[in-house]
Amino acid sequence: MARPISAPRGTRDLLPEDSAAWNRAEAIARDLSHGYAFDRIETPLFERVELFHRGLGEASDAVEKEMFRVGGATGSDEEKAEWALRPEPTAGIIRAFVEHGMHVRPGPLRLWMLGPMFRYDRPQAGRYRQFTQWDVEVVGDAGPMVDAEVIELGHRYFAELGLTDVVAYLNSIGDAVCRPGYRAVLVEYLAAREDRLTDDSRRRLRTNPLRVLDDKDLDPEVAAAAPRSVDHLCDACRAHFDAVRGLLDSLGVRYELDHRLVRGLDYYTRTTFEFFVAGRRGQQQALGGGGRYDGLAELLGGRPTPGIGFGIGIDRSVLAAAEQEAPVPEEPPLVAVVSQQPDDLAARLAAATALRAAGLRVRVDGSARKLGRQLESAAKLGARWAVIVGDDAHTVVLRDLAAHEQRELTLSEVAAAIG
Ligand code: HAM
Repeated sequence: MARPISAPRGTRDLLPEDSAAWNRAEAIARDLSHGYAFDRIETPLFERVELFHRGLGEASDAVEKEMFRVGGATGSDEEKAEWALRPEPTAGIIRAFVEHGMHVRPGPLRLWMLGPMFRYDRPQAGRYRQFTQWDVEVVGDAGPMVDAEVIELGHRYFAELGLTDVVAYLNSIGDAVCRPGYRAVLVEYLAAREDRLTDDSRRRLRTNPLRVLDDKDLDPEVAAAAPRSVDHLCDACRAHFDAVRGLLDSLGVRYELDHRLVRGLDYYTRTTFEFFVAGRRGQQQALGGGGRYDGLAELLGGRPTPGIGFGIGIDRSVLAAAEQEAPVPEEPPLVAVVSQQPDDLAARLAAATALRAAGLRVRVDGSARKLGRQLESAAKLGARWAVIVGDDAHTVVLRDLAAHEQRELTLSEVAAAIG
């Protein structure tokens, strides 16, 4: 036998037994996108590397360490330098927004996407090289109301998934007016304590100093006394942040301030947030995160256009729901069409087709096995009901495979009888 081939490291197969939980996690995302009046957008799975360089920043982990580069069959270095699988959707969505001149459409635009993202990182529990995100973006609204609206939407997602105790951690990292001042104060503070920083942080101090604050190994004393961005906001950013908090309070949305929440991507301005299960704030445990990116469209060659959104990790959300034993609603009952006659495939298929047209979930047995064996295997496959096709073209037998009871009725009566 040939040697079996395994899935790439950091990827997972979605097997049938996991599909009910995934279907549900995705269906809630789709339904909420619809209910909150977002329109679907799809962008390519790969884009120019330059898009991520400009959008996410050269010093972000996603660009510096985790780019999943791709090329054609020849795999030349030039190609690999040009293309990468998308590590996140926001840059691609705003690229599309600029490319299609979407700023002239009646706005603000509300866009959603659900699909795979790729980060070539060291895999571990909760961190995959391919993972799925539900993403929403509101483009063209600078006001604080929409910040509260998307944070509430994230909360609602987790509530509908059956997760309890989810908290939004919230911060404001200012904008082009006040961030440079804050950055300077922070760099001065950290540089004076450089000997207490990790190697990674020492490097970031020069490239991306705000990110030193989310180094998990940052000395707790250095972290506790570090200057906080909220103390250095300009008047406009301060007013915006106060308004967002007031709106969240008025909605009764659960949030906590986190002065170290700076997020990993350079495009963020003002509001930043991440969702965690309370008390579970490990490195790979953010269920989702997002924030405002008022300068991103301009970075990508568009007009200045404010935006805000989030990405929720479906993989981690499904894992968290399983850990909390959140109930997965049952799928509609399965019906199996079976038959007494070995040679009546046309009658079986016709019955299955009619039952499917009536809205039932149906599989059909095409074997020549004895009826008893067909019923046994239907039960093993999880069928709750069997419809036994017989000699009489007008009637069938509906068998309750759990109660072991059966009765005769016409095909058109089956759907109502199952209820
Ligand atoms: P992010 O925080 O990089 O934000 O990712 C959002 C979520 O995706 C994370 O909270 C996590 O649940 C999930 N995630 C990220 N990386 C992995 C991984 N390697 N394995 C499994 N799950 C992962 C963004 O991507 C931004 N685009 C969010 C956003 C939208 N900001 C504004 N609009």
